[in-house]
Amino acid sequence: MKKARTQKLNTLIVGLQWGDEGKGKIVDFLVKEADAVVRYAGGSNAGHTIIVNSQKFVLHLVPSGILHKSKICIIGNGVVVDPIELVQEIEALKRNNVYVSENLAISDMAHVVLPYHKLLDALRENAKGDKKIGTTRRGIGPAYGDKAERVGIRICDLMDPDRFTQKLKERLQEVNSLVQSFGGVPITADEIVEPYVKAAKYLQPYVRNTVVLLHELWRKNKRILFEGAQGTFLDIDHGTYPYVTSSNTTVGGVFTGTGLPPKALHRVIGVMKAYTTRVGEGPFPTENREISDLLHSLGREFGSTTGRPRRCGWFDAVLARHAVAVNGVNELAVTNLDGLDTLERIKVCVGYKYEGQILRFVPSDTEVFKKCEPIYKEFAGWKCGISGARSWKELPINTRRYLRGLEELLEAPISIVSVGPERHQTILL
Ligand code: IMP
Repeated sequence: MKKARTQKLNTLIVGLQWGDEGKGKIVDFLVKEADAVVRYAGGSNAGHTIIVNSQKFVLHLVPSGILHKSKICIIGNGVVVDPIELVQEIEALKRNNVYVSENLAISDMAHVVLPYHKLLDALRENAKGDKKIGTTRRGIGPAYGDKAERVGIRICDLMDPDRFTQKLKERLQEVNSLVQSFGGVPITADEIVEPYVKAAKYLQPYVRNTVVLLHELWRKNKRILFEGAQGTFLDIDHGTYPYVTSSNTTVGGVFTGTGLPPKALHRVIGVMKAYTTRVGEGPFPTENREISDLLHSLGREFGSTTGRPRRCGWFDAVLARHAVAVNGVNELAVTNLDGLDTLERIKVCVGYKYEGQILRFVPSDTEVFKKCEPIYKEFAGWKCGISGARSWKELPINTRRYLRGLEELLEAPISIVSVGPERHQTILL
């Protein structure tokens, strides 16, 4: 009889807001316990900043586990891969003496982001004017669009130069008529083939059937950490559509984006900032000028992928509670708590006012959500620096009250609190 899989090892780190929750730091912190780290969705629109010994690493496609030599890092089939950017990222890591070799695996089924995806992303955004989504212009929407339309080019195609060139030429016919309809300059196959075939050669040693690899790891009871990109409200289904990204960033994306089944996932850690941020357009009921200015003046909240200042606001418990439900969150990680250090009073949204009604849930109609006004509960601030705290007891009483308040509102326990960017500035509860 086969040995039953009894160990509860595999964990998902998922964002509960609009991305940039500090997932990279939590992954990096938990990676010690893991054998493999896996990206399952998104592409180089993601940007995870990790600070180790005051050295800053920004990773877009490579899973954060790469900074630990013994971990296997997997780019799953649900990711859209920009080969040129991936080569640059690997090169930058190697220049910084980070080991990148057989510890990195790229799915042969992942779809490739090509220059026309980026071009169409930009042309569409420009054409939309003030209705734009505010994308990262990394070609994410058009690449996932091609995948859904069944005209995408996959990594396995890219690995075969002749097949790649042929598919590219076929695809460019339709793409170029679209490009021209937006007034853009058509793209030729020649300008793409050479750099992409070169990148393909560079990436070839890393390309694998990651479904088989992941199942092997699972069978051997290896501990797998799934690294979410973006956040719940950027999910193509569960987010504030159309102001979303084009993948399933939430828990469901883990299974379609890796080929592992739901029973291979044992724990979900939801990551959220102690306040809320968003980049790009779209509704954000608790957005607040004062807190935006405060955080920006501290040099905080500038996007790691685009450098754009993020929009900032109070913590929205209605939103986070919804994300806890959608993802089946078992534990919460609260990040950037020190961002609130100087405040006298701290507000938390506990409901919305909409046309004389009180809503206790996130409306699915984005046009309704745009008109929602937050109802706040207030907490007393702690008004002192907490970045030096290393335990629950070392946190001021008002900080503890704030955290307990969030737990009550979200009906989930907090297990990790981050009080600064460094690895050691993390409290385990
Ligand atoms: P796209 O993913 O580039 O198509 O952008 C769609 C929306 O998702 C825009 O509002 C982006 O600002 C947002 N977005 C995409 N990736 C991230 C991320 O890693 N953090 C925060 N927002 C993101």
